[in-house]
Amino acid sequence: MKATTIAPSNIAFIKFFGKINEALRLPANNSISMCLSGALTTTTVEFSPLYKKDSIEILRDNFNEEEKRRIVEHLERIRKLAQITTFAKVVTKNSFPKSSGIASSASGFAALTLSAVKACRLNIPEKELTILTRLASGSSCRSIPDGFVEWKKSKTSENSYAYSLYSPTYWNICDVLVILEDKPKKVTTTDAHKLALTSPFYKERIMGMEEKIERLKQALKKKDFLSFGEIIETEALNMHAVMMTTNPPLFYWSEKTVKLILAIWEWRKKGLSVYFTIDAGPNVHLVCEEKNKKEVVSYLQSLNMGKIIVNKPSIGARLTNKHLF
Ligand code: PMV
Repeated sequence: MKATTIAPSNIAFIKFFGKINEALRLPANNSISMCLSGALTTTTVEFSPLYKKDSIEILRDNFNEEEKRRIVEHLERIRKLAQITTFAKVVTKNSFPKSSGIASSASGFAALTLSAVKACRLNIPEKELTILTRLASGSSCRSIPDGFVEWKKSKTSENSYAYSLYSPTYWNICDVLVILEDKPKKVTTTDAHKLALTSPFYKERIMGMEEKIERLKQALKKKDFLSFGEIIETEALNMHAVMMTTNPPLFYWSEKTVKLILAIWEWRKKGLSVYFTIDAGPNVHLVCEEKNKKEVVSYLQSLNMGKIIVNKPSIGARLTNKHLF
């Protein structure tokens, strides 16, 4: 009863920020993302009567008590579904730093969900897998399907799921991620979502969402990179404006974040077609077409701000037989 999954992190072009139901992790708005080829979590889960309790290990890193509690809670959920009581051994590793605004909870819980489900010999279709993993970490549901993914909002759990809008090969765009800081963030996204409601601009943000999502979908359909870039950049700034005006304020950026944003705007003035987006952390994702990737990377290298990870659109969570133990 052992299974191993490789799951990608994902970058949200339209962000999930704010929930209508805390316990079920139901989002206030639909979100749209892309799975990242270079930011992966690999997780092996084994259930065995030989284990006297659940054990959880992350290679070359540590989980805090709260993170462990969330993982055990999710194992419980899956044990209940499979009607088993055996304990599990979980070993996991990331190809990028945990808790730094790269959605490690997304790839982490997507990998845990698929591995645990398979290790229990449950057969769960993709849509239901996205619902199951959403209960543990909202954005993780977008790391199950392939390529460009939409997560639907709903008042009910069974209708808030993620599905693939387009396959990874649909559009040759890149996400060049710069790791400006690799320390854990000060406020977790779970707490950040709760604070969203305290911003005077939050309602305004939600009201404009349907129209913004429609425009992004049109840009995706036409592969119109300029419109696409403008929408994702304004969307990221919109979410961070709401974050900065919560009570107390959520300020995820560092000095380097601001420096890089200003540099990107300068590069664009000079004719380089590159846009940015930022999740709940200081690190910046530069989005460009494949044909401009080399130039974007070399501009970035000249600033020497941090480790660079170049991502293509990727497939979602998948099983592998390369177990970690
Ligand atoms: O899934 P969570 O609770 O870690 O929230 C993710 C929130 C953002 O990364 C800021 C946006 C998103 O849609 O991924």
